[in-house]
Amino acid sequence: MKEIAPSLLSADLLNLASSIERVRDRIKILHLDIMDGHFVPNLTFGPFFAEAIKEKFPGLRLDVHLMVSRPEEVIPWFLEAGVDWLSFHLEATFHHHRLLMKIKEGGVKAGLALNPSTPLCLLGPSLPYVDFVLLLTVNPGFGGQAFIEEGLGKIARLREMRETGGYSFLIEVDGGIKRENIRRIAEAGADVLVAGSAVFSGDPLRNLLYLKEELK
Ligand code: DX5
Ligand code: ZN
Repeated sequence: MKEIAPSLLSADLLNLASSIERVRDRIKILHLDIMDGHFVPNLTFGPFFAEAIKEKFPGLRLDVHLMVSRPEEVIPWFLEAGVDWLSFHLEATFHHHRLLMKIKEGGVKAGLALNPSTPLCLLGPSLPYVDFVLLLTVNPGFGGQAFIEEGLGKIARLREMRETGGYSFLIEVDGGIKRENIRRIAEAGADVLVAGSAVFSGDPLRNLLYLKEELK
């Protein structure tokens, strides 16, 4: 499975519904970035917004990426909102196992996200419990940044860890994915490829189809 998950962060904020409608028939997953102005230097959306998206687009899997300090405080809000996938940053809390279990008990796919400079070895104890790992390949906070090339090796090493350990979690990659590099990132081992500016700058459908073409 190789899926492109458009990230709403780069969509036209005053016309979000029509931007999503443009691509809804060609995607399965929609990525939503939640920023608290503390863990990352930006503010975005909240749980009521996630709920509104799920109500309007129930057929899309809503993949919520929490870039917040103290994720334990907001995870219940997003479970209540009816999201499908929920990830929090490994760097933002000590309670990885507890929070992964809480998300899974809510019937939601649980993910751990890692900043570009966070080593994979810190994931080790959590690997039996994650449904997916979200590898950031830009410093989180903003769309439209350049892909950090060291991410390619990190994706490949995580794929090896999955094989060696006999795990089945998905590898999601987020940041700087464009037409020029999406194939290399997929070949390195990404299963889910988040693309914000590469989809939503210009015509979202045309951009999405170009990206899909690269994955054929
Ligand atoms: C970065 C976010 C990303 C962002 C990616 O903090 O987590 O999801 O939308 O944007 P692009 O694809 O433009 O790098
Ligand atoms: Zn994201």
